[in-house]
Amino acid sequence: MPRTSAYSCSECGTQSAKWHGQCPGCEAWNTLVEEAIAPGGSKRRARAGRAGSGPGLRAVGSGPRERPRPLKEVGAAPVRRMSSGIGELDRVLGGGLVPGSLVLLGGSPGIGKSTLTNMALGHMQHAGLRTLYVSGEESAEQVRLRAERLAPGALQVPILAETDLDTVLETLAAEAPHACVIDSVQTLHAGELSGGPGSVGQVREVAGRIMELAKTQGIAVILVGHVTKEGALAGPRVLEHLVDCVLQFEGERERPYRELRSLKNRFGSTHEAGLFEMRQGGLVEVLDASARFVAEATRAPGSVVLAAMEGSRPLLVEVQALVAPSELEQPRRVVSGFDRNRLALVLAILGRHGRLGTGGADVFVNVVGGVRVDEPGCDLAVALAVASASRGVPLTGTPRGCFGELGLTGELRWVGHPERRLAEAAKHGLSDVIAPVDSGADAREVATLREALEAALPAGARAGRQARAAA
Ligand SMILES: Nc1ncnc2c1ncn2[C@@H]1O[C@H](COP(=O)(O)OP(=O)(O)OP(=O)(O)O)[C@@H](O)[C@H]1O
Ligand SMILES: [Mg+2]
Repeated sequence: MPRTSAYSCSECGTQSAKWHGQCPGCEAWNTLVEEAIAPGGSKRRARAGRAGSGPGLRAVGSGPRERPRPLKEVGAAPVRRMSSGIGELDRVLGGGLVPGSLVLLGGSPGIGKSTLTNMALGHMQHAGLRTLYVSGEESAEQVRLRAERLAPGALQVPILAETDLDTVLETLAAEAPHACVIDSVQTLHAGELSGGPGSVGQVREVAGRIMELAKTQGIAVILVGHVTKEGALAGPRVLEHLVDCVLQFEGERERPYRELRSLKNRFGSTHEAGLFEMRQGGLVEVLDASARFVAEATRAPGSVVLAAMEGSRPLLVEVQALVAPSELEQPRRVVSGFDRNRLALVLAILGRHGRLGTGGADVFVNVVGGVRVDEPGCDLAVALAVASASRGVPLTGTPRGCFGELGLTGELRWVGHPERRLAEAAKHGLSDVIAPVDSGADAREVATLREALEAALPAGARAGRQARAAA
């Protein structure tokens, strides 16, 4: 029987008919990856697996040579987009799904990937588009049970419960849907390769061949992907290069809020994020998140409201801190929804420029609601929350709103979109928001961390003593 696969080293490209633990060429370990051989003998991936290859690309020597031409002479039709029927998803995608594009959706187990994609296909089917849901993880019955609790359109979505790649591709070619979901890319299996589903070679082959079909037929494909224990997308990195858009679905399973973020987008911004809430009837878009978070703000010592930007949208979130004497030689720094290294930096600036040392104390910081804030504007909120918790007094004017980036010399630095942040704060009843210089007339503008502490801490709590907890 002719061979259907071979191995090549991902480091030096050495070819081998058999698998070796150590590459015979460069002697690196565990670098040989299985690849399919097309009937003609050429490796299939050479044709399919190149990032960004589209129907307009031709194989070497397959016709008369085309001369390079200036970009302005290249005709480019405007990108048409299909609405998924879910506003937050459309916004994160940059305005909807693009025909012929591949979207990779990753997220922890049980976070709601299947629910979100089921709902999107349901809406599209309801809107008259052809859809297909390919499930390699769950049986058709299981998917139906989920669809029953979602919007009515979800039950109209055609389903194929299949793990064989060739069958899936044949069905896709025959049905020619406008949009298709593959749940998940790690469960499909290419018969030519001996590696198990989810192995590096399999995932690369599966994604490459689906992309080839999607680009030629103009099918918008959402590939659902697993994540590793560390939260990164599982599978080869090349998968992320291959697809047009990488979305990450995040949140804490115990909490209802879910955030959809874009990590890569060839058709839109990567700064957008969408907020959802998991309810009995599926995922519901949270459009009034600021109102909810402000209403829930505790106003206790250690609480502050951050006027953050989630992409192009302002969002008010509560940041909470707890500072407690530590019994450990190395005090704990526990953080949720904020970068841990950034917390270390803010604590160092607080100690040096705010005369508020936390060296002997455990510090816990939490962005309430399971939301993650990934922007420099949250430094000041973390600093004020820690200062308030450390002194054991609520900030003045609670709920106290603020935003701004801290510099290493203790200055408060300007951050983007101050007017939108201030308008959102005003809309939800927050006045006297502490902000960097040049933020706007409505803000309480301050130039340094020390000035911010003076503005936010009650007079009696400002004394330059070290944090009580640390003493
Ligand atoms: N009948 C139900 N009622 C309420 N909530 C439900 C119901 N069924 C599922 N859920 C919620 O949906 C979540 C699972 O969603 P979903 O199956 O979409 O996750 P997933 O990300 O696809 O998971 P996996 O990685 O395991 O495929 C559950 O954790 C639960 O919170
Ligand atoms: Mg699932």
